[in-house]
Amino acid sequence: MSSASAPGKIILFGEHAVVYGRPALAIPVTQVGVTVAIQITSTNNEIPDIPSQSNQDWKERISIFAPAIHRSGVLASYDSSRKADPIGMVIENVVKELEINSPPSLHIDISSSIPVSSGFGSGAAVSVALVRALAATFGRTIPDEKVSQIAFEAEKLHHGTPSGIDNTVVTYARPVYFIKDKPIQTFAVGAPFTLVIADSGIRAATRESVGDVRRLWLANPQRFEDIFTEIAAIVETARRAIQQGDEEELGELMNQNHRFLQELTVSSPLLDHLKQAALNAGASGAKLSGGGRGGNLIALVSSETIDCVATALGRAGARQIIITTVI
Ligand code: MEV
Repeated sequence: MSSASAPGKIILFGEHAVVYGRPALAIPVTQVGVTVAIQITSTNNEIPDIPSQSNQDWKERISIFAPAIHRSGVLASYDSSRKADPIGMVIENVVKELEINSPPSLHIDISSSIPVSSGFGSGAAVSVALVRALAATFGRTIPDEKVSQIAFEAEKLHHGTPSGIDNTVVTYARPVYFIKDKPIQTFAVGAPFTLVIADSGIRAATRESVGDVRRLWLANPQRFEDIFTEIAAIVETARRAIQQGDEEELGELMNQNHRFLQELTVSSPLLDHLKQAALNAGASGAKLSGGGRGGNLIALVSSETIDCVATALGRAGARQIIITTVI
């Protein structure tokens, strides 16, 4: 049996604008994650060679058990021409990358504590853990850059036009300052800061919010380019505020970023309500995180406000609260 795990993630600043070449900051969230365990159930020698079998028949021998992401069954039963199949694509790309001619029978067990379609990067975490667990099954390793690239290909099926930030932060499992198609950088943290992450419980497909922003941008490119540039300025200032440990400024920047996300139409009444509840309870700032419409709200808290903010977010309708400290 071989296994591998990958964490969830949240975007601190710059979601959506990052799709248009602007920078964004993201961190891994290790309180949630995906584990993929793979067992070889028979070797190729035990499988009768039937001459009429096509070279795709190995997919009949791969069974997947992944109830947490609503995906179980034999790999071949997922017709990739009719349905986007990120898991199938990841497996195929790993087999290609490792030049495995005829994979043995495999049982792939995927367990996850990451809520799907909720801004935690569930899709990227499944892909990254799956790539590494498959490589381990074949006694090999795949370099991080390639792991991230394979996960990025699957992200395209999930999201349509992803920036690549989710697969990057999940692969490298460290804070990232990310610009599409540029080498990854990290950012310095001058003083640890704590975030309360409130899952709104509303599942919203990133593909849709990203697609809607694209339609708005196409209809009015100048206005939306200006918004993306304003968001980019917030990201740069936030990077400096994090480096200097300036919590007050960081909170204000979160509020500003949220206002621009509202202009991009990716907030929702519940996310706005959660944000207000967090601020009323003493958070220094709050914003939605990720694709929006549903998913997460993140609130910046101190040791004095943390309990109050977490309780207020629960009362205001959050389904799950996670507390994470960025160090
Ligand atoms: C999703 O976590 C972040 C978005 O900016 C999409 C992307 O960057 O691919 C909304």
